[in-house]
Amino acid sequence: MDLKPENSGSETQVHKLIEDLKCESVDVQRFATSELRMLTKHMENRIVIANCGAISLLISLLYSTDLGIQENAVTALLNLSINDEIKAAIVDSNVIDPLVHVLETGNAEAKENSAAAIFNLSALKELMLRIGRAGAIKPLVELLENGSSQGKKDAIRALFNLSVITENKPRIVEAGAIRPLIALMDPALGMVDKAVAILANLATVSEAQIAIGREGGIPVLVEVVELGSARGKENAAAVLLRLCTSSKRFCRQVLKEGAVPPLAALSQSGTPRAKEKARSLLCFFRNARRV
Ligand SMILES: *[C@@H]1O[C@H](CO)[C@@H](O)[C@H](O)[C@H]1NC(C)=O
Ligand SMILES: *[C@@H]1O[C@H](CO)[C@@H](O)[C@H](O)[C@H]1NC(C)=O
Ligand SMILES: *[C@@H]1O[C@H](CO)[C@@H](O)[C@H](O)[C@H]1NC(C)=O
Ligand SMILES: *[C@@H]1O[C@H](CO)[C@@H](O)[C@H](O)[C@H]1NC(C)=O
Repeated sequence: MDLKPENSGSETQVHKLIEDLKCESVDVQRFATSELRMLTKHMENRIVIANCGAISLLISLLYSTDLGIQENAVTALLNLSINDEIKAAIVDSNVIDPLVHVLETGNAEAKENSAAAIFNLSALKELMLRIGRAGAIKPLVELLENGSSQGKKDAIRALFNLSVITENKPRIVEAGAIRPLIALMDPALGMVDKAVAILANLATVSEAQIAIGREGGIPVLVEVVELGSARGKENAAAVLLRLCTSSKRFCRQVLKEGAVPPLAALSQSGTPRAKEKARSLLCFFRNARRV
């Protein structure tokens, strides 16, 4: 990279720490990664660190069997990625497989920060396919279901971006995402909108429709149509429309859950897309009754 260090004062220190990353001693490596992790909190240090060749060394330390080193390295890389040019350099360094390795093997904080880094990289479209193919989805779904509350937040953001890509949708369903997504539609957890948005992305494939019905998603979706945010109502209506048009059984269940009054309200007062989905559903119900 061709960046001018803004704060060359710390360059000697950074050089020393980077030499220490290559050291055989686990204690020295742990100390050096922990110092670098702290230094990456400041923008001027990030550029110095990246220019001194730390990126490839930190990426190889994602495979360290020492969980502390692994956690420091992934956290330092996450903060280095705040700088767009450094982020591009990280992307160019084959970071995806090592990040998936951290998702699979790391401690709680390392997993969270790896998911956050994957989310950050997934903003780049061409990487979303590679991330899906590299096996990131299964450990992200595990984090979604069994992670800490921060881990769930990091996983749901990454999975939201990945769920936009058609090829990833069946993978996300097969990895078991539907059950935790429905569980996260508890308003107390503050993730309803993101969870419903992922369901709306996924519900274009039949695997997802079947799983949403099977895992008890219908009553929860009807509740979001009634009580959710404007965006939540819109996406919940979109998912229900998919379910109803795919299966008569789902359609009967949606009716049984009392969906008509909240859909009628939404057809009058929702966002334009919500009104359209609600009207299509009500129309679908009327036609279904006639036959
Ligand atoms: C990254 O840097 C910011 C400040 O720029 C700091 O607040 C944050 O704690 C750092 N993140 C981690 C994970 O160390
Ligand atoms: C994620 O990427 C964006 C855009 O490239 C960047 O502005 C942001 O700071 C990054 N966030 C983290 C935590 O790396
Ligand atoms: C992925 O997430 C980032 C950050 O929120 C966003 O800028 C980007 O547009 C998202 N990509 C897709 C395809 O949703
Ligand atoms: C979450 O943990 C439970 C209990 O250990 C396990 O049965 C389940 O498969 C885990 N979820 C995922 C998605 O791996």
